[in-house]
Amino acid sequence: MVYPALAAVRGCCRQPFCEIRRAQAVCIPAIHLHVTAATMQVSQEDFEKAQEQLKLLKNDPGNETKLKLYALFKQATEGPCNSPKPSMLDFVKKAKWDAWNSLGNLSQDNARQKYTELVSSLISAESADQKKDDSPHESRHGGYETILVTTKNNITKIIFNRPDKKNAISRKMYGEIIKALEEAGKDDSAIAVITGNGDYYSSGNDLNNFTSGLSGEVEKMAKDAAALLKEFVDHFIDFPKPLIAVVNGPAVGIPVTLLGLCDVVYASDRATFHTPFSQLGQSPEGCSSYLFPKIMGLAKASEMLLFNKKLTAAEACAQGLVTEVFPDMTFQKEVWKRLEAYASNPKNSLAVTKQLLRSVEKEKLHAVNSKECEVLMERWLSKECLNAVSWFLTQRSKL
Ligand code: COA
Repeated sequence: MVYPALAAVRGCCRQPFCEIRRAQAVCIPAIHLHVTAATMQVSQEDFEKAQEQLKLLKNDPGNETKLKLYALFKQATEGPCNSPKPSMLDFVKKAKWDAWNSLGNLSQDNARQKYTELVSSLISAESADQKKDDSPHESRHGGYETILVTTKNNITKIIFNRPDKKNAISRKMYGEIIKALEEAGKDDSAIAVITGNGDYYSSGNDLNNFTSGLSGEVEKMAKDAAALLKEFVDHFIDFPKPLIAVVNGPAVGIPVTLLGLCDVVYASDRATFHTPFSQLGQSPEGCSSYLFPKIMGLAKASEMLLFNKKLTAAEACAQGLVTEVFPDMTFQKEVWKRLEAYASNPKNSLAVTKQLLRSVEKEKLHAVNSKECEVLMERWLSKECLNAVSWFLTQRSKL
């Protein structure tokens, strides 16, 4: 929505502000102020240079800044505002008059200085943005359908990419994530990040995985699925560099249990953490039967893994499953900024430290994973599980 008063100021910017802003062109070097130590006043030459530099700004600095520039310019060149107050209905003139009048008796020298400093800060900000744009391009890894894999700034991102299915993990996706982890483990990046595209982090195992193999032998389907799950979780256990989960929204099932195998977990305050295994006649995976009690204590882990308790992001953080929670509004900006700083550390040092932190447990984790997959294979063949999954799928088909 554009408020009428703002729209009026915006509309006027091209013409009435012509004293302060004309053609837009390429980025320009910062102004060097010629100040005398005693007075800190800028010279007339610097003031004029600032006016020239302003014309070359590439980006519109916004109405508030333009009004400030206008007012400082008028104060610097004409002194305090003594023109009659325009009518309330003349939004543009009134906004300009107010800005100028608000400077009161600020001296012309001071106004010149403030104007020059403001232009200088606008130019610095723009050239910083320009530098950011010049940073290495994101390279997209080919050969994936259900995930996106990119590398930039020493970070390889593995992004669940079935947003219309809440990023449910299909068999194909399991295979692609395994491949992406293998590539990310060997590529030049310092850290790898897992996140989701869309409003969900992931809704877990695609429940259609249970039906797509049912035409064949059920036992074989369960055996193959258990082997795939074991291989999948093994890749998380063995991942050689820091692995960060950026939990952008709700997570259900295996994406939650895998968090125990991630080194850092950042979550939006919109995220929730749900492991409805008993509800689906299943049992925990992702080494959560071992790691969750270790991370959050047996009682809290039992509430989640036995009784399907859904945690908010704040609760998951209080229980140690999540490292830090960020407001959803600023989540992406804050998290990526932080991860870029982390990823600028020497990558071999990061890798050996990650390996030291995890090596003591590795054997144990592989044993836990084997056991969990064995139990799950039996669960998938149970009536309890088949009934629960068929119920979900038939409910969906009725909608
Ligand atoms: N497996 C298969 N399909 C899934 C899925 C899953 N785990 N999660 C979501 N989907 C599909 C839905 O069937 C729906 O597909 P459709 O548009 O073709 O009907 C689509 O994704 C959108 O989901 P929908 O249920 O309409 O969104 P919602 O916001 O109402 O609910 C969930 C989202 C995640 C709460 C709900 O889909 C759900 O409970 N999914 C099952 C989660 C689960 O039990 N995972 C396994 C854990 S072990």
